[in-house]
Amino acid sequence: MNDLHAVSNGGTTVMAGPGGSVNGTVTVPGDKSMSHRSVMFGSIAEGVSHIDGFLAGEDSLNTVAAFRKMGVNIERKSENQLIIHGVGMHGLKAPDSDLYMGNAGTGMRLIAGLLAAQKFNTNLTGDESLSGRPMGRVIDPLRLMGASIAGDEQGRPPLKIEPTENLHAIDYPLPMASAQVKSCVLLAGLYAQGTTTVTEPAVTRDHTERMLRSFGYSVNTSQAGEVQLSGGGSLRGCDMTIPADISSAAFLLVAATIAPDSDITLTNIGVNPTRTGVIDILRLMGADIELKNRRQAGDEPVADIRVKSAPLKGVAIPESLVPLAIDELPVVFVAAAVAHGTTTVTGAEELRVKESDRIAAMAEGLATLGVDAVATPDGMIINGGSIGGGTVETFFDHRIAMAFCIASLRSEQAVIIKDTQHVETSFPGFFALCSQLGLQTKEV
Ligand code: S3P
Repeated sequence: MNDLHAVSNGGTTVMAGPGGSVNGTVTVPGDKSMSHRSVMFGSIAEGVSHIDGFLAGEDSLNTVAAFRKMGVNIERKSENQLIIHGVGMHGLKAPDSDLYMGNAGTGMRLIAGLLAAQKFNTNLTGDESLSGRPMGRVIDPLRLMGASIAGDEQGRPPLKIEPTENLHAIDYPLPMASAQVKSCVLLAGLYAQGTTTVTEPAVTRDHTERMLRSFGYSVNTSQAGEVQLSGGGSLRGCDMTIPADISSAAFLLVAATIAPDSDITLTNIGVNPTRTGVIDILRLMGADIELKNRRQAGDEPVADIRVKSAPLKGVAIPESLVPLAIDELPVVFVAAAVAHGTTTVTGAEELRVKESDRIAAMAEGLATLGVDAVATPDGMIINGGSIGGGTVETFFDHRIAMAFCIASLRSEQAVIIKDTQHVETSFPGFFALCSQLGLQTKEV
């Protein structure tokens, strides 16, 4: 578990609200999960891949930098367009220094699976938040496959990876519902002898499976949560358009729902069913959300989403929806804070090991704002009512910063949000977009 600490390093403080409405038609930046994967798969593919809709956020740009260091020519045609000249399964070269993955758990955990199979040493590092996150969850299965990988004595970064003889396939029941761990094992499985099977305890995002197929690699999935692939094949470069990130859209879904007189349309949002838990949860609470113009962007479904203000009621969030809304729960807590009645979240212990301990961070900030929110080991109990105002810590976590900005739409006094700079990891331009839509935000 991350320790909850907030030593401000002179980061950017934002004052938001109080109050406001949100109106307009906008889109949000590209999907972060898919952006990471597109760079990884494009790099080890044969031939050229054109990626449009790439998230130009710090997390995914660190993944680009890592593959460039391993000899991959990745051109930035425009802000959100990449041309990746794939080097094939065995074409990566030894980097001449550490690979810095910044704030990104996805970057580090997925790349670890790929690098475990390479014929050179690598050292993966991260920022302070990432350096506190558990990596035993990827070290353990990779060692079972024969990899040589180690973290510090507590299984945290930096990760030191050394070449070993050929990896072998494993049959791995995931100890937790984690798409990152699933993907790590599958990426190592691309290089392993035999058929690797990963079994999920609950459905998690399936972008790795879908995107590998787009790159021409065969992946089998079963109703029982098994995902299987055989090592030794190759990926074929492809062209893709990454949809806008539903995890970023989620802040605006809640914004338009809780702010009076609001009506927004968010265009081109990825609505993969393994990601839409936030829509299901908000609808259970009474939100007015309409999916329009559903279509396919390659292997991923997309839609435009219209949201209007609606009164919310507290609910017991079904545990089956938790992995499908794991990154959106901080802003769901904000919705719960203004809902009529009690909202309970259980089965969400994974929140404690995200970019911050998101249960502790949200409980503390909501309490500061006068909300009756009680943290539990695996979730939160929130009695909805009113939101006051005050100064909240973000614990250097982008989603905590954005969630509290949205809370200001219903706060009685301003919400002052410290250390907002990490918003750049996933949602560059968030505060400017908020102002454009009708929130009052300014740097102080
Ligand atoms: C991600 C998976 C999730 C999510 C993260 C992105 C991915 O993590 O929280 O932001 O791209 O695979 P876990 O799979 O560890 O829950």
